[in-house]
Parts: sequence; C-alpha cells; structure tokens
Amino acid sequence: MSTQRNILITGGAGFIGSHVVRRFVTKYPQHRIINLDALTYAGNLENLRDIEQAPNYVFVKADICDAEAVPKVFKDYAIDGVIHLAAESHVDRSITDPLAFVRTNVFGTVTLLNAAKEAWNTVMEGKRFYHVSTDEVYGSLHDESLFLETTPYDPQSPYSASKAASDHFVRAYGNTYKLPFVLSNCSNNYGSHHFPEKLIPLMINNIRNNKPLPVYGKGENVRDWLWVEDHAAAIDTIFHGGVNGETYNIGGHNEWKNIDLVHLLCAIMDRKLGRTAGESAKLITYVTDRAGHDLRYAIDATKIERELGWRPSITFEVGLERTVDWYLANSEWLDHVTSGAYRSYYEAQYGR
Ligand code: NAD
Ligand code: DAU
Repeated sequence: MSTQRNILITGGAGFIGSHVVRRFVTKYPQHRIINLDALTYAGNLENLRDIEQAPNYVFVKADICDAEAVPKVFKDYAIDGVIHLAAESHVDRSITDPLAFVRTNVFGTVTLLNAAKEAWNTVMEGKRFYHVSTDEVYGSLHDESLFLETTPYDPQSPYSASKAASDHFVRAYGNTYKLPFVLSNCSNNYGSHHFPEKLIPLMINNIRNNKPLPVYGKGENVRDWLWVEDHAAAIDTIFHGGVNGETYNIGGHNEWKNIDLVHLLCAIMDRKLGRTAGESAKLITYVTDRAGHDLRYAIDATKIERELGWRPSITFEVGLERTVDWYLANSEWLDHVTSGAYRSYYEAQYGR
C-alpha cells in the first residue's frame, strides 16, 4: 500500500503505541500519522521526542470517549485507517477501579467505532479499523495447550473482560455495519518506554534503586514475552497485509515463570551495575498474590507466521539486554515517570 493514507493511531503516547507511531512515521513518509491520546498517567509525549517534528506526524490530545472530538478528528484529517491501541492496560489497576476500564476500553472503543462507521458510511472500500487486543481474553491456561485464534473467550480479570467486550463490539460492527476490521491478540510485551508499574520495568527500576522486588504469590505464573518492536512490526504487517474480518494471534514462543525471569533480570543487572553475582536477587520479596491471578498465557502464532510471514526478529536474551541498557541509559525517563502520581500508586499497591 504505497498510496497516501491518513492513519489515526490511538494511544500513541503509551508504551506500544509510541513504538507503532515511530515505526509508521519513519517507515511511511507518504502516510500522515495522527496520534490521538488523552495523555493519562500512562501517556507520555517524551516517548516521541525524536519524531515529533516529522512533517507527516500530528498529535491530537483527546479522549476516545469524547463523542464530539473523535468524529471531528475523522473529518479534519480525512481518516481512512485506524490502529486502536488506547486503553487502560494494567490488570492491578482494573482490580481496584473496574469502571475506569469499562469507560475507556468499552465505551471508548464503541465511540471510536461509531466515528469510523459515520465517517466511512458511504465508502467502506479501502478503509480499515485495526483493533489491538490481548491474549488475556482467552483466560488462564492450566495445561500444556496454547491460545489459538479459535480458543473461546474466557476473560478472568476486569481488564481482560473489558478488552474481550471491546473485541466483541469490533466484530459486531464488522457483521452489522460491514465495517472493515482486523484484530490481533498479543502476548506480554517488553522493551523501552514501558511504564514501571508492569513487571519488567518495575523490577529494573527497583533493582537499580536497591528496593524490594515484589513477586506475587510463589512466582510460578507464566507469561509469553515478546519484544515490543516485534509487536509493532506485526501490527504493521497485519495493517498492510491482513485480511478483513480476520484475527491474528501474536506471540514470542517465549514462556517464562515470573520467578525465573526476575532471577535472570537480577543477573543481567548485577553484571551491568558491577555488583557481585547474586546481590540483586537478595532483594526478591514474595508478596500477596494478585486477586484471581491468571496462571499461564502462551500464544500459538502459527497463523500470522504462515499467512503473513511475520516472525519475532530477536531472541529474549538479546531483547532483555537491549531493554536493560535502555533503562540504564535513560534513568532520567524513569525518574520523570516515577515521580508524582506514581509514588501514591506504588504505596497503595505495595504498601511502601
Ligand atoms: P499503555 O497503558 O502503556 O498506554 C495506553 C495509552 O492510551 C496511553 O498513552 C494513554 O494515555 C492512552 N489512553 C488511555 N485512556 C485513553 C482515553 N480514554 N483516550 C485516549 N487515550 C487514552 O498501554 P500499552 O501497554 O502500550 O498497551 C496498548 C494496547 O495494547 C492496549 O490496548 C493493550 O490492551 C494492548 N496490549 C498490551 C500488551 C502489553 O503487554 N502491554 C499486550 C497485548 C496487548
Ligand atoms: O498478556 C498481555 C498482557 O500483558 C497485556 O494485555 C496487559 O496490558 C499487560 O499489562 C500484561 O499483563 P500482565 O498482568 O501479564 O502483566 P504484568 O507486567 O502486570 O505482570 C506480569 C506477571 O508478573 C504477572 O503474572 C503478575 C506478575 N507481577 C507483576 C507485578 C507488577 C509480579 O509478580 N509482581 C509485580 O509487581
């Protein structure tokens, strides 16, 4: 698709969104990229400093729930493609404030769908609504199986329930109004610009500050980790080459028990910080488990690999080294995002 397009990316100031925006702005100078973000606690324009002056980039501060602002963006910028990432994304926050997740993830997604439906009403041809979702909608695995695109939905947390509801609405708009959509469900991402409420950046930040490393329960829960730039590449592949109405699972074939991952991070950080081997691991502290904690997620990514030719580009070992290097080289970024509101969140969640 080399013709000029006006692509609306929602949530582009967040973790994954900023990688998607950067990739599209730099790789597709013929496209105009409109980043719509409400700049919640998780949104940070510092994530996009390097591309904010690009001639094909526009930032609009707006809430996806705003039924006046969102249609106006479709009209002002003649939007013909959407990549929807804006969401409340942290499971622990969904346990303390589920309605915030219903508002943004369900109400916000439907507001965006309505705007697309109205704007594209007469000509749906060539339009595309890409909904970025999560593997958590499939629930929790308790055996050796993997999540397939056909696995029945079984969300277990308020976060995953809200994402599942948004997925259902996207498919319902495809069926009812013939809205051209694609959808993907991805496993856990890691990499630069990841807000340190999530496991990997939280552990890196605490190791560097010699703070306790809070491992929930026994640390036996399993996650399937994918480098965020590989997720951005998969989104690019699906946006440009995916088939309308299809769903693609994205994952790294990279399952880790939390406790093993935290030990690996400690070992990498010991080496990088010149500490004695084993020093950082002494900070590991087992804390009360997350309520309703999903045991295991693991993705079967055969479909996107076979049909669209996407594959993860780097190993976990390389990706984690790069990630740790980024946080150590960007301690200012970590200091900025962990000041202010982060402190009160941290105290409420971990009690210190
Ligand atoms: P994030 O929390 O880092 O970023 C979310 C972004 O959305 C922020 O910039 C925030 O300001 C913006 N936002 C939140 N509410 C908004 C609203 N009402 N209106 C406009 N903007 C709003 O999230 P992330 O980890 O980058 O996740 C992005 C998307 O990818 C989400 O839809 C998430 O469900 C999905 N996903 C995440 C992962 C992961 O491992 N992080 C894995 C699979 C899928
Ligand atoms: O699977 C995709 C999902 O991955 C995304 O949809 C979510 O947006 C994203 O936040 C992530 O959800 P998780 O709940 O898996 O990620 P989190 O980083 O919060 O936790 C990863 C694992 O680590 C999980 O088993 C809980 C555990 N954990 C987490 C934190 C923050 C701890 O043991 N201690 C912690 O302090």
